[in-house]
Amino acid sequence: MAIDGPAAAGKGTISKAVAAHFGFAHLDTGLIYRATGRRVLDGEDPLQAARALVPADLARGDLRTPEVAQAASRVAALPEVRAALVNFQREFARRAGGAVLDGRDIGTVICPDAEAKLFVTASDEVRAARRLAELAPRFPDLTLAKVLDDLRARDARDAEREAAPMRPAKDAVQLDTSKMDIGEAVAAAIRVVQDRLPPSA
Ligand code: CDP
Repeated sequence: MAIDGPAAAGKGTISKAVAAHFGFAHLDTGLIYRATGRRVLDGEDPLQAARALVPADLARGDLRTPEVAQAASRVAALPEVRAALVNFQREFARRAGGAVLDGRDIGTVICPDAEAKLFVTASDEVRAARRLAELAPRFPDLTLAKVLDDLRARDARDAEREAAPMRPAKDAVQLDTSKMDIGEAVAAAIRVVQDRLPPSA
């Protein structure tokens, strides 16, 4: 299953819950770009950083910060960096037992043949409020205006880049979660998968 959408739309929460419901493995592909961005902030060349990634990089505790999010979006615009990360994602997607991948280009580039595709959105204000709530305990000085600016800058860069721009696949189901709570969004996503599973599953 492919779940794409802009920053802080709820992809992560929905993906984890859908994976748990169906017993699928889950890969947050944003973490791959965040880990690459983190290495670049630490002084490495972007392509070298992408090629050198190991699973432990994705488990780092310092990837979910505003600074790393912006660095991720900058390295993610480089075609050679994206190319270096394709095989790992496709191999994960093909694993037995099923997989959910969430990101920006899963339904369009990484897994164009995914059984189910979702494009998750929410209004800018709702997304900024959700991200602020997530970050506030660790970044008490952060404001809603700053988070909103960051999300918009990142979305613009992600949507306007030439390499695998963020956009819904033609066959993706769009899910606007602006007025949904987590339970409603997860239930809607599960229905999308259920509708597409073979009858025996
Ligand atoms: O959690 P959030 O939605 O804020 O971002 P993320 O999914 O962790 O992704 C961080 C950044 O990685 C994005 O802004 C994109 O630039 C990049 N990304 C990408 O280009 N392609 C993907 N499949 C996943 C993430």
